[in-house]
Amino acid sequence: ITKVNPSRPYLHYAPEKNWMNDPNGLVFFNNEYHLFYQYHPNGTTWGPMHWGHAVSSNLIDWEELPIALYPDQHGTIFSGSAVVDWHNTTGFFNDGPGLVAIFTHHKETDSGIVQSQSLAYSTDSGKTWIKYEGNPVLSHPSNPDFRDPKVFWHDESDKWVMVLATGQTISIYSSQNLIHWVFESEFGTNIGSHEGVWECPDLFALKVEGTNEDKWVMIVSIGDGEGLAYGSRTQYFTGSFDGKAFISEHSEAKWLDDGRDQYAGVTFSDIPKEDSRRILIGWMSNWRYANQVPTDGWRSQMTLPRELTLKECEGHTKLVQHFPKELNQWFNHTTEIERTVDSSGINIDVEQGPVYLDLNTPCPKSGELQIALNYSDQTHTVIQFNFNEKKLSFKRSNSGKVDFSELFSKDQELFFRDLTELQLTMVIDTFSVELLLNEGEYALTSLQFPDESLKDISLKTDTGEVLIKGVVKQ
Ligand code: FRU
Repeated sequence: ITKVNPSRPYLHYAPEKNWMNDPNGLVFFNNEYHLFYQYHPNGTTWGPMHWGHAVSSNLIDWEELPIALYPDQHGTIFSGSAVVDWHNTTGFFNDGPGLVAIFTHHKETDSGIVQSQSLAYSTDSGKTWIKYEGNPVLSHPSNPDFRDPKVFWHDESDKWVMVLATGQTISIYSSQNLIHWVFESEFGTNIGSHEGVWECPDLFALKVEGTNEDKWVMIVSIGDGEGLAYGSRTQYFTGSFDGKAFISEHSEAKWLDDGRDQYAGVTFSDIPKEDSRRILIGWMSNWRYANQVPTDGWRSQMTLPRELTLKECEGHTKLVQHFPKELNQWFNHTTEIERTVDSSGINIDVEQGPVYLDLNTPCPKSGELQIALNYSDQTHTVIQFNFNEKKLSFKRSNSGKVDFSELFSKDQELFFRDLTELQLTMVIDTFSVELLLNEGEYALTSLQFPDESLKDISLKTDTGEVLIKGVVKQ
């Protein structure tokens, strides 16, 4: 019997209908996670932007709410962030703390594009929003790329800090009240990748695992540009921040994800100190083909939330990603696997629905290991480890619908360092695979559009016999 593939993701947020891009205004308040997002309510392709809205108590089950922000006389509503104004620095809240959204107004005028930053606030925990009457609060006389404000409270200097995408740099501003902003510094000249316009920055501190040291992380997405072979993608920098300037400790870009479908990711604001997690959600698509992906009536999904930590690996500080513990609640049963794999291969059966797979094996020094996600006799996604080259190839050219984009069917590659153990975590949903390697040190996020549901997962290797241990959760 052919199982009919459901037409929506199980675990990933996607709007009921129409177009979505970047996550916006990620904030935790009154026991709810808020996910706002770039939304076009009148079509399944990018158009005049609004802020769509969803809430969740557990980061996985999202409830879609009415649109939070509509275009107005200052323009359409581009990306931005939200914060809790705990101490009423804005004067908007007479009755306890409330939410403030800091977003970009985008306007196309006869003399060109104008982007400026504006505020909206909510006194009912995000249900309804009031635009600040003094909008916009931060403009630039001539820069048409002046957008995507991410704001946080900086305790040490007792003020709000904004990171803003300003062409191919990030500008840093500060404020006492979210209304009056002072320019502090500009980051990014001659640092990192400049193959496209810089977008959707984020800046936060994280403890380096196993030390008492904090480092600051600057995340910068790069819009699809001529120079980018694989479309839009996200770089990050590690370094220091003194309330005024961010100093990167390296000049080469580090990449957040080696897959093609993790973009515009930013982190939640105001997760309680007792929890202290830094959680990122990205848009699971790529500007190269986002407007063409073959979904029905809705377009685009968010990635699963990723908990971020920092780890020292071979002299570099790396951003490490884990799925949040809340994901476990979703699965009803766990099957342990302990199997010997050789060239004749093994099969792991799965049921309809999302699959969580965690595999461990000693890492061979040469040869190949192949993991195939089998949808039908002709349709497979193949994950191939080449141990000589220390390369993982993610092959989706036979994964179902691929002909909507030339780039989509090309292999995605991830190069890993010398490893003694191979540890692989994968979450396979209706239209995506999120893969983490070596306890989250490497990530590869990939869309796929199979016509049928996953039948089984097969493994084989030419490296002799390898013992594979792990779990499958469904
Ligand atoms: C990133 C981006 C942002 C902009 C938004 C518009 O994907 O281009 O820079 O604010 O999308 O929808």
